[in-house]
Amino acid sequence: MKNILVTGGAGFIGSNFINFILQKRDDYFIVNFDKLTYAGNLENLKPSEEKKNYQFVKGDIINSELVDFIFQKYKIKYVINFAAESHVDRSILGSEIFYQTNVIGTNVLLETARKYEAEKFLQVSTDEVYGSLGREGLFTESTPLSPNSPYSSSKAAADMMALAFHHTFGMPVVVTRCSNNYGPLQFPEKLIPLMIINSLNNKKLPVYGDGLNVRDWIYVIDHNNAIDFVLEKGTPGNVYNIGASNEMPNIEIVKLILRHLKKPEDLIHYVKDRPGHDRRYAIDSSKIKNELGWKPEYSFDEAIAQTVDWYISHKSWWERIITGEYQKYYQTQYKNF
Ligand code: NAD
Ligand code: TYD
Repeated sequence: MKNILVTGGAGFIGSNFINFILQKRDDYFIVNFDKLTYAGNLENLKPSEEKKNYQFVKGDIINSELVDFIFQKYKIKYVINFAAESHVDRSILGSEIFYQTNVIGTNVLLETARKYEAEKFLQVSTDEVYGSLGREGLFTESTPLSPNSPYSSSKAAADMMALAFHHTFGMPVVVTRCSNNYGPLQFPEKLIPLMIINSLNNKKLPVYGDGLNVRDWIYVIDHNNAIDFVLEKGTPGNVYNIGASNEMPNIEIVKLILRHLKKPEDLIHYVKDRPGHDRRYAIDSSKIKNELGWKPEYSFDEAIAQTVDWYISHKSWWERIITGEYQKYYQTQYKNF
């Protein structure tokens, strides 16, 4: 049995990871450790909550005493650190919590994993640590880090810290850097779920700037499968880029969603640009493909259609969110930059 601490497992990617991995592996015991911030939702874990090899613990990764207790109690030997403040716009409106959770929290996890001699520590990171690309080129693992937002700078700091723990203490750390994810259970502050839900509600779709910023989209299950590959086979001290070679300008995604939902393009509303808005992200994932044998399995056309359908059929999931505490932010966020 592999006793794995999954932090942030009530969020978008973490909950998809737990539900996916517990379906295919009964040799994993998962402790989901999550603070349940605005982005954490235990409802996401319905398919896993009854499983014998799943345990939820509410807590903050900056709480070193509680983290220590969890390592001891559950004999943790593996860590997958998903826990983070994850939204660039929020990091522009207030950065402190990003550095607390993403930097200090990761430090607590690393120190505790070191104390209990963890066999693998997987730091879940992002391609945003590389900064912004021009029209040409791709991010490789050796692209210099050049983060531009408070969010990406906090993730870059955590990556460097994790790799330093490998270099200095020989800790078996691996870092994954993935491109933009989409799929079920994504909090509706991010581009794709926000645009789907606004379209369904016949609300304006706030497109930042000229709408020509490019993101490289990957289905969340392909990302999570890659994480499992890196956990199993990744070489300590290494970084693995994860992406599905699917670059698209934002406006194209927005129009595609409108077409799926048979909604008019006049819902599109160009708004003031995000400050410091990175122009283009694109990932070269040949290392993980060649060295570990991973490859993405979902086509964008199929997976985006399934994602749109998921939001159509899970109205109660997102309605509770947009009519709850989050409502005020949801209605005003893009006017506040
Ligand atoms: P999310 O915001 O949906 O979920 C984050 C989860 O972390 C939530 O459940 C939240 O409650 C929990 N959390 C936050 N602060 C915590 C703390 N101090 N202690 C314990 N739990 C805490 O984020 P996501 O989109 O699922 O992203 C997960 C990870 O993947 C993040 O590390 C993010 O940087 C990374 N990532 C995300 C994307 C993407 O497209 N969403 C792409 C690449 C990498
Ligand atoms: P987002 O989902 O916030 O991810 P990230 O900033 O981490 O890439 O945004 C994806 C792209 O969509 C980004 O270029 C900003 C843009 N965007 C909008 O145009 N309007 C919106 O309301 C949001 C949330 C994002």
